[in-house]
Amino acid sequence: MGESNYASLEVNGKKIELPIIESSDGDNGIDISRLRAETGYITFDNGFSNTASSISNITHIDGEQGELRIRGYNIEDLVHNCSFREVAYLLVHGSLPTRDQLTAFSSYLNEHSLIDEDMHHFFSGFPRNGHPMAILAAMVTSLSSFYPDLEDTKDQSFDITAARLVSKVRTIAAFSYRKSKGQALVYPRHDLNYCSNFLNMMFDSSVKPYHIDPLYAKILDKLLILHVDHGQNCSTTAVKLIGSAKANLYAAISAGICALWGPLHGGANQAVVEMLENIMADDGDVQKYIGMAKDRDNAFRLMGFGHAIYKNYDPRAKLAKELVDELFSSREINDPLLDIARKLEAAALSDEFFIERKLYPNIDFYTGILYRALGIPTNMLTVMFVIGRLPGWIAQWKEFIDNKSRIFRPRQIYVGPDLRSFVEIDKR
Ligand code: CMC
Repeated sequence: MGESNYASLEVNGKKIELPIIESSDGDNGIDISRLRAETGYITFDNGFSNTASSISNITHIDGEQGELRIRGYNIEDLVHNCSFREVAYLLVHGSLPTRDQLTAFSSYLNEHSLIDEDMHHFFSGFPRNGHPMAILAAMVTSLSSFYPDLEDTKDQSFDITAARLVSKVRTIAAFSYRKSKGQALVYPRHDLNYCSNFLNMMFDSSVKPYHIDPLYAKILDKLLILHVDHGQNCSTTAVKLIGSAKANLYAAISAGICALWGPLHGGANQAVVEMLENIMADDGDVQKYIGMAKDRDNAFRLMGFGHAIYKNYDPRAKLAKELVDELFSSREINDPLLDIARKLEAAALSDEFFIERKLYPNIDFYTGILYRALGIPTNMLTVMFVIGRLPGWIAQWKEFIDNKSRIFRPRQIYVGPDLRSFVEIDKR
C-alpha cells in the first residue's frame, strides 16, 4: 500500500498510484478504474471473487469468523426477535419499523396481494410438470406489463412497488404450486399474516380445510429471514447487472430468480434433498458420497457444503439447525433424511479433505429438510428462497440505482484468432 490512501503499482517500469476505498469492515478496496487509461492493462479476476463492483451499506459478512449482519444487526438477533415483515421493512427502508410503520407496511402487503385476474390464464399455458422456478421467473417479468414501473426510488411509488413484489411473489409461488397439482387457486386473505397466508394458499382445500399450525407459520417466518440478504452474491449481481442497464425492477428481479435457480446457488436446497434421497436409496451409505465428493475425477460435490465467502460454519446453517431441533422436538415429524443429513455432516466435518478446504454446511444443508417438514414439495424449495431473498434484492437494486452506478460492462481478455481474410461461401 502507498502512503495512506493510495496503493502503488508498477507496470512495465511505470509506477502509478491507485486510490484506496475504505470499507467499514476492513475489506478495503483498490480503485483500479483508471488502470487501463494509465497503463494499458486491465485486471483479470475469474468469477469476480476478488472484485467489488459496487459500494453498499446493506450487508456485512465475515467469512472467516462466520458472521452475517444485515443493516448492522446480527442475523441471530433478527431471527430470534423479528418477524419476516419487520426484516423485509428493514431491508427495503433501511431501519427497523415502528409499530405504525409496520402496520402501514402490512396494509400495503395485504392491499397488493392479489394478481390481476388476466394473469391467471398464464398458469394454464405451462405444462403441469413445469418447474415452479421457470413459472415464477416468467410471471415476475410479466408483472411489468400489468403494473407500472416505479417512477422514483425516493417517493411512494417505490414503497408500493416494493410491497407489491414482496406480496405478489408469494401469491404467484402458491398459485404455481396449485396449478401444478391441478387444484383450484386459493386466494390470499387479509386476516392472515404473511406466512400463514402463504401456507393457506398452498394447502387449503374446500373439501379439507387446512389447519394453520402457528409453529409451522413461525418456522417459515424464520426461514424466510435466513434467506433475506447475502451481499453481492450471484443472483444479486444479476439483479444489479440488469438494473445497471436501467431495465425495470421486475425484469431485474426476474434475472435474480433465474440466477438463484442454479444448483451452485439457491438451487442447492433442492439438490441437497435429492442427494439425501439418493443416499437413502443407497442404504444410507454416506461414506460412498463423501468418497465421490473427494474424487477429483468425479464432478459430484457434496450439496449444501462449502461457500465462496464462508470458510467457517455458515451462521445461517447454525440457525437452521436450531429450527430443526425446535420443530422436530415439538411435533411428531419423522424424516429419515434428517438422520442421513446428520450422519453426512458428521462424516464430512471429521474428514481431512473437508477440514483442509474449510468446507462447512451452508444455508441450504438443513433448510430443505425444514421446508419438507412444513409440507413444501422439493421442486418448490428454491421458490421459497426467492420469497425470502426478495427484500434483499429490492434493497440492493434501490441502493445501486440511487448511487447512480454505471452500466456493468466487464471486459474480456481476448485469445481468439488475429484478423482473417474473408472467404466467399463457395470458396471455403
Ligand atoms: N463438495 C466437494 N468439494 C468441494 C465442495 C463441495 N460441496 N465445495 C468446494 N469443494 C472443493 C473444490 O473442489 C475445491 O477443491 P480443490 O482445491 O481440490 O480444487 C475447493 O473445495 C475449493 O472450492 P471452490 O470451487 O474454489 O469453492 P468456490 O468458492 O468456488 O465454490 C461453492 C463455492 C458454493 C460453489 C461450492 O462450495 C459448491 O459447489 N458447493 C456445493 C453447492 C452448494 O451447496 N451451493 C450453495 C451455496 S450457499 C447458498 C447460496 O449461495 O445461494
